[in-house]
Parts: sequence; C-alpha cells; structure tokens
Amino acid sequence: MAIKNKLKIAVGSLKIGSFAKKLIQKTLHNNRLTYGDITIEFENKFAREHGCRYGLFTVSGTSALQIALHAMKGLHAWKNGDEVLVPSVTFIATSNVVIQNGLKPVFVDVDPRTYLMSPENIKSHITSRTRAIMPVHLFGRPAEMKKITALARRYKLKVIVDSCETMGVEYLDKPLGQWGDIVCFSTYAAHLLITGVGGLAITNNSVYATKMRSLMNHGRDTIYYNIDQDDHVFSRKKMYKLVDRRFSFIDVGYSYRLTELEAALGLEGLRDLSANVAARQKNYRLFLEALAPYARDLQLPILQKGEVCACMMFPIVIRPESNIQRAELIAFLETHGIETRYAMPLLSQPIYQKLFPGYEKRYPVARWMDKNGFYIGCHQYLSEKDVRYVVTVFKKFFGHKTLFS
Ligand SMILES: Cc1ncc(COP(=O)(O)O)c(C=O)c1O
Repeated sequence: MAIKNKLKIAVGSLKIGSFAKKLIQKTLHNNRLTYGDITIEFENKFAREHGCRYGLFTVSGTSALQIALHAMKGLHAWKNGDEVLVPSVTFIATSNVVIQNGLKPVFVDVDPRTYLMSPENIKSHITSRTRAIMPVHLFGRPAEMKKITALARRYKLKVIVDSCETMGVEYLDKPLGQWGDIVCFSTYAAHLLITGVGGLAITNNSVYATKMRSLMNHGRDTIYYNIDQDDHVFSRKKMYKLVDRRFSFIDVGYSYRLTELEAALGLEGLRDLSANVAARQKNYRLFLEALAPYARDLQLPILQKGEVCACMMFPIVIRPESNIQRAELIAFLETHGIETRYAMPLLSQPIYQKLFPGYEKRYPVARWMDKNGFYIGCHQYLSEKDVRYVVTVFKKFFGHKTLFS
C-alpha cells in the first residue's frame, strides 16, 4: 500500500480569484467592514438568483437555519416541544437547531436510492404537534420538493429547507428559493460557494425576512440595522424616532453578522457558481461512468431523468449483498491520497445516542448508510487526470478493468 504523505484529491478546494482580491482591497481602502454595499449586493444577488426577494448573509448555514426556525416559532406561536420533521441522514446541524429552539426533531427515514427525506415516509410521522418539515438538499441534490410541499400544504405545515449543500441549480425548472418558506445555505469551506465561514437565509416573505434580520442583529428593533441609515434622515422628527429606537431590542437575538470581506468572496463565488457547478457535474458524470463496473458492490448515485444535481460531493454506499468492507476501501483510498468522509451519520452520533436512545435501529436506511456510506470529492478543481487517478485507485482495489483502462 502507498503511504499517505500529501493529500491529492480533497473533498473540496478553494482558489480566491482577482475579482475578490480587488474587491477586498477596495473594502480595506474604504475602511468599511460592517454591513455595507458589498454585503447588500451579495445578499440581493444571491437571493434573486435563487428566486427570492430577500436574502440575509449570516455567520454560517447553521445560524441561518437557527434564525429561520426562531422566526417561525415566534411568528406562528409554536410551543416548546412542537415537532419538526427532519431526515434521518443529514449533517447534525439540521436537527441541532430544532433542539436549540426548544422544538422536537422527528426523524423521517431517507429513500435508499436518493438518500433524501422520503416523502412516502413523511405522513406516518405527522401528529397534531407537527409544525414544519425541514427537507435537506443533501450532497448537492434537491429533495423531492413537489411531493413535500404538497404534503405541507395539505397538513398546514411550514417548510424550512436546509440547502447548505446545494445551490446554483433548479428543481423542476423553478429556482430553489421558490420551494419552501425559507431556504438556508452554507458558504463554509469546501462548499459550492465559499466565504470561509458564512450562510444565507432567503425567502419571499417580507415578515420572515424582517424578523430574521432583527434576530441576527441581537433582536434589534428593525428600524435600524445599518449605520448608513442615519445618513438619509433629514427631518428632526424622523431622526428623533431613529435615535430613540436604534438601541431598542425586541427579541432575544444573536450576533450573526459577517463583514464586507466575506461578502466580497461571496460575490466572486456567485459570479463563478454556474461554471463551477457545470465542472462538478462533468466530474460526477465521469465518476458515474468509470465506476459503473463496480456497481455490483457499490451503489453509485442514481439520478432520475431530468434531475439536476449541484454535485457537492460524490456519495457511494456499499450494497448490502457486497462483501467489500468500507473500512478497507476507505483506508485504501486515503492511503492513496484520496480524501473521504462518512455519508452524514446522524443517529449514531454519541450525543444523539444519548438524546434518542434506540433510534438508530428504527431507521433502516440511515443505519445502512451509516455503516456503509462515504463520499469523495468531485469539485471544480479536479482535472480529468485527477478523476482518472481516483478511478485507477478503485480499479486497483477491485482488481478490475474500467472504461479508462
Ligand atoms: C446539510 C448541512 N446542514 C447544515 C450545515 C451547517 O453549515 P455551517 O457549517 O455553515 O454552519 C452543513 C455544513 O456542512 C450541512 O452540510
């Protein structure tokens, strides 16, 4: 076995281009870091490109989800212990924010072919205390929003979408922001658009947007969230009102703001998003074709005709009938410089085993993925040569021939 010395094929990567560097220089030159033109432009452009009127740039995807749920809970008078449906396979932040808001996450097993919340499993989990569904667009792939939003309408539930792993694509010819009441994204490292840390909540509902804007600003009176607002008030009466209310807090909020520097990175990321997604889709397709000879052992992504995936990563799950050991395959890949991650195990996490004892066994698909799933990168900086290298390593592991041989 080769000895791992330098990681060659990471799950994600970042290159900061000249556009962002110039914008950052300009920002530094202007001595303006807090919420200003660049953040406003990024929020507006990101929201518009995803089909929404309002966008809020927050410190993380988690904080975007946090304020989305908090706003919903307050505005719709949800009670502590009310229930929110979340998938059984996702990054832990999805269900953590439900718990942190005093609500109860109710897990819905995912579909074994898509790895996304199964609409067929949703109905049996709805009770008189269910208030919302939180589908997750996992691994770059939009959840089955047509069926999910129909169920939400039927049972009068809100839909908050965790789209932290998906952006820049449409679902059934409609932008992602139009599928759900609030849709949240992450711009953390290795994501589709990277600002270091960061996230966005987008919505078409002005009441939700105003509430979230306040919550991310310590719960401040929404009359004031930007120092530029002082500049345009010329009447004494209006100025007095502003001065009186600008240090007024109407909610127990958070400090979830970022700076103009992250927004500058965001604007560049947004400019490059569709090209980057296209490059990822190409790598994804190459993996699908070249790893097909191992499909007897490995379940590769199964996309429906016309389904568009943002290809955040390339998930693989070892089939139940295979005698391949995940630990052996992963160790082989890693020692050949190919980074892997488990496929979002959730219910087996030590903290969730404590909070939800025995749940692991109740969700067979999540359990199968937990024991057998992992993903590799398919990001835009991987060349065709890199993809061939990855396939060659699989080939070596299986001792077979592939399309590239
Ligand atoms: C599905 C999902 N939800 C939420 C998050 C949290 O995003 P952040 O790390 O920006 O808080 C992530 C991050 O990777 C994620 O993958």
